Amino acid sequence: MVTPYKAEPATDFTVESNKQAFQEALKQVKEQFGGDYPLIIGGKEVMTDDKTTVINPANKEQVLGNVSKAKPEHIEQALEAGEAAFESWSTWSAKERADLLLRIAAIIRRRKHEFSALMVYEAGKPWNEADGDTNEAIDFIEYYARSWMDLADGKPTLDREGESNKYFYQPMGVGVTISPWNFPFAIMAGTTIAPVVAGNSVLLKPSGDTPIIAYKFMEVLKEAGLPDGVVNFVPGSSRDIGDYMVEHHKTHFITFTGSKSVGLHITEKAAKVQEGQHFLKRTISEMGGKDTIIVDKDADIEVAAESIVHSAFGFSGQKCSACSRAVVHEDVHDEVLARSIELAKELTVGDTTENTYMGPVVNQNQFDRIKDYIETGKKEGKLEFGGETDDSTGFFVHPTIFSDLDPEAVIMQEEIFGPVVGFTKVKDFDEALKVANNTEYGLTGAVITNTREHWHLACRKFDVGNLYLNRGCTAAVVGYHPFGGFKLSGTDQKTGSPDYLLNFVNQKVVSEMF
Ligand code: SER
Repeated sequence: MVTPYKAEPATDFTVESNKQAFQEALKQVKEQFGGDYPLIIGGKEVMTDDKTTVINPANKEQVLGNVSKAKPEHIEQALEAGEAAFESWSTWSAKERADLLLRIAAIIRRRKHEFSALMVYEAGKPWNEADGDTNEAIDFIEYYARSWMDLADGKPTLDREGESNKYFYQPMGVGVTISPWNFPFAIMAGTTIAPVVAGNSVLLKPSGDTPIIAYKFMEVLKEAGLPDGVVNFVPGSSRDIGDYMVEHHKTHFITFTGSKSVGLHITEKAAKVQEGQHFLKRTISEMGGKDTIIVDKDADIEVAAESIVHSAFGFSGQKCSACSRAVVHEDVHDEVLARSIELAKELTVGDTTENTYMGPVVNQNQFDRIKDYIETGKKEGKLEFGGETDDSTGFFVHPTIFSDLDPEAVIMQEEIFGPVVGFTKVKDFDEALKVANNTEYGLTGAVITNTREHWHLACRKFDVGNLYLNRGCTAAVVGYHPFGGFKLSGTDQKTGSPDYLLNFVNQKVVSEMF
């Protein structure tokens, strides 16, 4: 009997023994720096000459390793390996596949600090964010194991006299997972394991910024006993292999998490039926956000300011769920802004091995983009706090707050993916909702209010996939807050929900006459 699902608890780093264990993990991970990493196709390691050099974004000179880059011929081989593995993997019983997932989760749990420490270096994650990422990876694996056991027998249908009917789910075949750098373990593992537990095989293309944590995940899959070829590790440049994987006639599904532009491109490419393709591809796209916290006139000021600051600056605003707009009632606007600035002043920024609140942003491109947006913000509104950037050793951007912004301003409309939040003032709650809904995105949002009717109104009218009351708009927990966005934030298939695995199966009906 499998125990009920519950989310993995966060590590308390104020406990001295936890702190020391984490420092030890940081030391050990560092000793492995500089290695070469292969592709893994059908269980075989393939080292290529062309490699991605992975650096620590807090310290550009520090090379973590060099990761092989797949080319189209490797994708061809990986698809063949995936098809071959599918033949037997798809025949494992639900319980057999789910048990293997529980074993994967147990191995990760035992080595938790090692993975989190690696993300401190590879993604510049602060300790608690890295710990949260590893915990979320475990959560996805534990949750989907149980979810598949619930689904595997299918759903009831009606029988008639002399007729027995069954309605159940079958895996589809080989597909592609393209995962992001901002949750390099959780989203990578979750979007790989979901199709796998349903009986499919996968080509995993992790982000070029964070491929090493994905390689470590491959090690765990092997140790747990996942058959060769069920997950094939094919990091590489999107230019070389992105379209090739997505368009290939053997690819049954694509699960993508990343920017809106890439998500839209993938959706378009995947929609076209290729020669030799005898099915329609499924595309699951989780894209960007321009997430808003509304502060009502009777809001608790402290709750409002804390929610804004932690949602905007946690992991330097590099979450699709991050708050980048505060829409505040005019009666409390100045007070909320002042308190938010005070709280932002307390945040530390620096090398996350020192467990600062904020680390670097992930790479030079992101650093340059955010810097440009800060310049735009200075023209569009009033810089209230922050604005400093420094890329001399790593890619550091300080928490930045703008006010006096028109809701249509560029920095109130475009996804920045950095530690920048804009304030705008509204006259009443109706106007607040109108402003909150005026972007092309619809991922997360929060309402800070003590007026119950306003909350009810927001539940109906605030056009986002994940809406929160009197708290921040980040930190959805698998199984508790199924996650996904409306509008151009994505296909809203809700990761960590009871329905997510239905994306990776064909629904079959079998009717028997007696
Ligand atoms: N699930 C994350 C959050 O809620 C974002 O991907 O913050």
